[in-house]
Amino acid sequence: MRALITGANGQLGKALRDQIPAETQVDWVDLPDLDISKATDVEAWFLAHCPYDLVINCAAFTNVDGCEADFAAAFAANALGPMNLARACASCGATLVHVSTDYVFPGTEPGARVESDVPAPISAYGRSKLAGEGLALSANPRTHVVRTAWLYGDGKNFVRTMLSVAQTHDEVTVVDDQLGNPTSAADLAHEIVRIAATTDYGVWHCTNEGTCSWADFTEAIYKISGIDCHVRRCSSADWKRMNPQSADRPAFSSLENAKLKATIGNEMRPWREALEEYLCDK
Ligand SMILES: NC(=O)c1ccc[n+]([C@@H]2O[C@H](COP(=O)([O-])OP(=O)(O)OC[C@H]3O[C@@H](n4cnc5c(N)ncnc54)[C@H](OP(=O)(O)O)[C@@H]3O)[C@@H](O)[C@H]2O)c1
Repeated sequence: MRALITGANGQLGKALRDQIPAETQVDWVDLPDLDISKATDVEAWFLAHCPYDLVINCAAFTNVDGCEADFAAAFAANALGPMNLARACASCGATLVHVSTDYVFPGTEPGARVESDVPAPISAYGRSKLAGEGLALSANPRTHVVRTAWLYGDGKNFVRTMLSVAQTHDEVTVVDDQLGNPTSAADLAHEIVRIAATTDYGVWHCTNEGTCSWADFTEAIYKISGIDCHVRRCSSADWKRMNPQSADRPAFSSLENAKLKATIGNEMRPWREALEEYLCDK
């Protein structure tokens, strides 16, 4: 079994290091050694290293506000990148696992979205990621698209930002009208390895169980860590007034792991349990 992991130095890429079976021979690659948005670079990489059985694409332009400012760069990494990888996978018969996001949905309806719900992104990031899903699925028949949300692991993430803010502030203002699923990169990596072993290609939702707002999430981070920092709740409209350059985000972006439940079983834990383990390990 030979595998390629792109975006290997990101949160998910690092989490996969503990999950990929030891007998798998893995090439871990990230910028600047392989830029997935460059078709010729991807072709050259595969020519030099093929054949792979499995490619897991963890590479992405994940700065949601940054994508608004530079859609061309977002589209290159998040849409052309997975297309280039999918084409290369098709040429050597490899399975592609491409990771996507809850932000492909508009978030206008309460309740969790299942894989068959119709996406309609409201941000540049969401539009670039949705384009990547379609291009990857159409370029390689053996493609899994795994949508996740609110990811935290070893890297820059919301949990680390909130812990850092609390070192210098005794109050933090956080949005309380956007609901989603905080998700541990370690738990996602575990499920991705299980999904990759199936031939149930197509779209999967994979988040930790349970829904909360960013403000609820922040309070849980402080409570579990024993930090005394007050969470002042604000609306998305207030946040936008304070940060006019910020991207619009879905109000209800909760995902249901429906395909996991219907096929190989859903091993994703409640989000608080996963968060406790993450914070205790720090
Ligand atoms: N983070 C979240 O909250 C979240 C939520 C939902 C879905 N997701 C999805 O989950 C996946 C993993 O996210 P993550 O949090 O692990 O991301 P991450 O920590 O930002 O890591 C992404 C990695 O990809 C690299 N990269 C960026 N552009 C690239 C390119 N053109 N070619 C090759 N590598 C490139 C980055 O390098 P540099 O750091 O040098 O740019 C970084 O090492 C992504 O598909 C993301 O869209 C994330």
